[in-house]
Amino acid sequence: MKIFVDSANLTEIEEALRRGFPDGITTNPSILSKEQRTDFRQHIKKIIGLINRYGRTIPLSVEVFTADPKQMIKQATDFISEFGSYEGINVKVPIGWDELGVISELKSRGIRVNCTCCMSFNQAVMASRAGADFVSLFFGRIKDIGYDARSVVRSVHRVFKEWSVPSQIIVGSIRHICDINEALEAGADIVTVPPKFFSQMVTHPKTDEAVNQFITDFKNWSEQG
Ligand code: E4P
Repeated sequence: MKIFVDSANLTEIEEALRRGFPDGITTNPSILSKEQRTDFRQHIKKIIGLINRYGRTIPLSVEVFTADPKQMIKQATDFISEFGSYEGINVKVPIGWDELGVISELKSRGIRVNCTCCMSFNQAVMASRAGADFVSLFFGRIKDIGYDARSVVRSVHRVFKEWSVPSQIIVGSIRHICDINEALEAGADIVTVPPKFFSQMVTHPKTDEAVNQFITDFKNWSEQG
């Protein structure tokens, strides 16, 4: 069970790294577009710099931003030339008929691939057969159209385990805290989480009550007499 940070924001990434829990970072073109406009290569290098500063080598996904398969291969190889000295780098390629060829080609060149935008069991199976290291299922978007995202994750998990498929299941498109819990219970290897949920995940009113009580009781006792 692993938690990735679904963000390209340097402050959010650093806040997570400082707390030691992230096992990886995922970006996509939309996530990058939320940051101040800059050369995206420089921005990715800043993310890598942060990860290095915390002494980690964790997966970092960078997604292609074209629908043309030839361009996808070109962009992916450019990413590797730019960022390949960082061992955790992997390239996100969306699932699709021609994209399977892209995944296969990148794998033959020794490039790690995260096959993204998977909404169904059969897409996940095909992504894994083409050689994707990670298969990203979009929990929130699956639910948006009325499907049961938990059962999709559960089926993929069961079949991957049964057949010892090496691809790891990433669940993304998290919209609520309960999505994280449901995805992990359904068998996600990894959940990639928007940072706004992290502090909520460790906060509980009964925890605050307990901690306040302990401090107050000790203070009252130690100051007696
Ligand atoms: C992560 O890898 C995905 O790109 C991301 O979680 C997608 O989230 P969205 O469905 O909110 O765009």
